[in-house]
Amino acid sequence: MSKRFYITTAIDYVNGQPHLGHAYEKIIADVIARARRSMGQQVFFLTGLDEHGQKVQQAALAEKKDPQAYCDLLARDWMTFATRLGLTHDDFVRTTQPRHKEYVQATLSKLHDRGHFYKSSYSGFYSTKEETFLTEKDRQPDGTFDPAYGEVVELKEENYYFKLKEHQEWLVDHLEKNPDFVSPPHRRNEVLGFLKNNTLEDLCISRPVSRLNWGIPLPFDREFVTYVWFDALVNYTSIAAHHADLDLWPADIHVIGKDIIKFHAVYWPIMLKAMELPLPRQILVHGWWQKDGARMSKSLGNVVDPVAIMNEWGVDPLRFHVLRELDIGPDGNWTDAGFQARYGAELANGLGNLVNRSLSMLQRYRQGIVPAVSMELAAETIQATQETGEALKQNHLQAGLLTIWGLISRANQYVDQTAPFKLAKDPAQSQRLDAVLYNLVEICRVLAVLAWPYLPETACKIHAQLGLAQKPDQWSLSAWGGLAEGHRIGVPSPLFPRRDDPHKSSGRSIN
Ligand code: MSP
Repeated sequence: MSKRFYITTAIDYVNGQPHLGHAYEKIIADVIARARRSMGQQVFFLTGLDEHGQKVQQAALAEKKDPQAYCDLLARDWMTFATRLGLTHDDFVRTTQPRHKEYVQATLSKLHDRGHFYKSSYSGFYSTKEETFLTEKDRQPDGTFDPAYGEVVELKEENYYFKLKEHQEWLVDHLEKNPDFVSPPHRRNEVLGFLKNNTLEDLCISRPVSRLNWGIPLPFDREFVTYVWFDALVNYTSIAAHHADLDLWPADIHVIGKDIIKFHAVYWPIMLKAMELPLPRQILVHGWWQKDGARMSKSLGNVVDPVAIMNEWGVDPLRFHVLRELDIGPDGNWTDAGFQARYGAELANGLGNLVNRSLSMLQRYRQGIVPAVSMELAAETIQATQETGEALKQNHLQAGLLTIWGLISRANQYVDQTAPFKLAKDPAQSQRLDAVLYNLVEICRVLAVLAWPYLPETACKIHAQLGLAQKPDQWSLSAWGGLAEGHRIGVPSPLFPRRDDPHKSSGRSIN
């Protein structure tokens, strides 16, 4: 069996409810997974939760719950959330699962036996919030530490350290020889710049039980638990090992946010090298969302709640907006007005209107029966299909959407140019009307196939309204001419109801 395309997301801390940033990352990974499957690849998509460490322990404590009970409760919400987002993940890892913990302990033992760790005493300034010792470099010009580090305390303790220095050279070499290892390129340059200008400090991989006990015990010293990041990163391989029969490792893509790039592009490759495993093919780094130009935070009360958006507007408008608004790389800014404007212009007036009027006209003028195949818009559609496919293969998700919407605009323009409502009044134009109607409904069908990775619910609705039984989940279905003469389509209904739309089916209106 050939190796599966293995794609992962970061695993989220289960210390609260999911927000827009978590949703965004999972949607990116899902679109890539769906697109690859549609194009015939065998895919394995992993997402999940990071349940150990101080953050989670403190959150549990604040609610007076036992950490495991707290995680179990919240994990249910996060798993429901993944389903609501339409994610097609093949597994959902929780780092408190025995399958993961056992693998982490086996890994620690192996690395310990091979001499990668040493025990040492360290005293310094410790940020509880970031679970890390700070160095002199972290001080601000006035000598204080950035308030982002939260409370900083002076600590002296023994811990286990992972020798990193010896790995610096080959890692630089690997980044230089593999330009796609970290994408987009400016993130790769950031990592290279860091590695060339700094000497790597050894990584502390333990926490004394006396200070933190919510973690995986070190198999060779029960006075310590594993540092949460060592535990978390290993999920990518623990789950691959769990599905050993599927041949998953190395991962093809780790999708992560820009804040955790050092863990993934520096520590993780070094850990893998020590584990004698091949490195992942790519680390795909996305930017961060703000809300109305400000960082989202619980204390500011400006966190965008993806569940509320899905309840009000549906899942596809959320998936669409985040990918259309923000390319993978830069930071983005969420505004409710921006979201609503796109919903109106691009979903309701763009795709929704095209499908609704095309199908309605076929019902009205031809009783819903598809006329003979016409090739008028075939070339443009094939071109757009190829471009979208290329964009998807390169993870250029925003570019793919732009191409699809270019085709939608073209088709809407075609309606205005050919004016089928006028043709319908002239019996001499009957053949011309047949051709126009064919091109329109066929474009709608192809659009469902192209949109499937991005807007799975909408794509299925388009297919159903066209009277097609199967899902539009295979790229090969996009070949022109799929609608056969004589096929009877189903009943059209608005895909994206508008506030002023009398046909609005359900849900709340736009405002
Ligand atoms: N648990 C670690 C990841 C371990 S991966 C082996 C973690 N968790 S997190 O919950 O804080 O973040 C999870 C992911 O969400 C990260 O990739 C992070 O970049 C992303 N985001 C968190 N807030 C975000 C935004 N405001 N915008 C976009 N993505 C954001 O880090």
